[in-house]
Amino acid sequence: MPISFARRIQQVQPSATLAVDAKAKAMQAQGIDVVGFGAGEPDFTTPQHIVQAGIAAMSGGDTHYGAKRGNELKDAIVAKLKRENELDYAAEQVVVSCGAKHSLYNIVQVLVDEGDEAIIPAPYWVSYLEQVRLAGGKPVIIETGEETGFKISPEQLERAITPKTRLFFFNSPSNPTGAVYTPDEIRALAQVIEKHNLVTISDEIYERLIYGDISPLSLGSLSKKLLEELVITVNGVSKTYAMTGWRIGYAAGPKPIMNAAKKLQSHATSDPAAFSQAGACEALKNLRMSDEAIMHMCEAFDERRKHMIKRIHELPGVSILEPLGAFYAFANVSGVFGRKIGGIEIKSAMDFTNIALEQAKVAVVPGEAFGSPKHVRLSYATSVELIDKGLDRLRDLLK
Ligand SMILES: Cc1ncc(COP(=O)(O)O)c(C=O)c1O
Repeated sequence: MPISFARRIQQVQPSATLAVDAKAKAMQAQGIDVVGFGAGEPDFTTPQHIVQAGIAAMSGGDTHYGAKRGNELKDAIVAKLKRENELDYAAEQVVVSCGAKHSLYNIVQVLVDEGDEAIIPAPYWVSYLEQVRLAGGKPVIIETGEETGFKISPEQLERAITPKTRLFFFNSPSNPTGAVYTPDEIRALAQVIEKHNLVTISDEIYERLIYGDISPLSLGSLSKKLLEELVITVNGVSKTYAMTGWRIGYAAGPKPIMNAAKKLQSHATSDPAAFSQAGACEALKNLRMSDEAIMHMCEAFDERRKHMIKRIHELPGVSILEPLGAFYAFANVSGVFGRKIGGIEIKSAMDFTNIALEQAKVAVVPGEAFGSPKHVRLSYATSVELIDKGLDRLRDLLK
């Protein structure tokens, strides 16, 4: 008898970013020399002082449920949010989860019901959309493009709100575009959010990866009402401290929402791994060593960013708006559409991605996954040598 799957999983697509990465890794495992620009993670290993803290926790017997360091980590998060983001939360308003993806999942599950709407600016990080669908909700997409720097206006946000709206996803710096909202732009959106009592997730996971002179600003810090009633701040250690494999993310927000998230998580996963919590504690508390490591990684990302942008500008038919944050270049490949390469006509970003992988052995992520069919995403969290190698191949492919 065929297995019948629940509706909620049937309406969800697998993560395209993970799929491209898996295909590239499978080719590499067969001995094919693929240059991977698909990954959404720093290529650096976790700074040693953090690794040592994780090891020490395990050897010291911190191997139980509800890690010994659970409260210490929440206190460290509260202190970080106050120190760096001017956000005043109590420890009981913080939920630590298995990555920020899990934090977001909790929030969506407790707020979105069958038929509810969630507003998502496009290009978007792929999991926002699918998490809303998993909850039975309807994603309401606000389109943006290069002409507005891939940013939405307050008017666009206001127009998207309906009586069924339950949630708005705000992400700056953005994955996949690298767009960073200025403090004034965030203040203008905050006015609409307050006026309509719009519950908002502010995903600040790339906040430390900003190049140039825009300072980060946390949406929740702009008023008491935003902080206490409307904004859930989501962050984590994955990107800032090169700790993607440790799986520690967190959300902080209004008490009733966080209590509901705690209840959900208590039946799904309980606390994240004990040694991971110890590592995250070290990352957030040993400021001198962590800041030094972050500065070193940021400088390397910035150098690679500039190099990759320069090299993308040299590709015929491809254009790019300078990304100012995160570690992604979001290249517009629509100028190549209609051309035949190796006998195959390129009609979409997906075609471009397939041809790049199969014929040039370069892995990028198709924009369709982010709601933007004219673009592909290239991660520059890789060495300058590999950026050159991959971009040489793409140049030769498109010549
Ligand atoms: C915008 C955004 N939010 C959240 C996450 C989740 O990160 P993690 O689950 O590793 O903490 C990612 C990871 O790619 C991301 O790009």
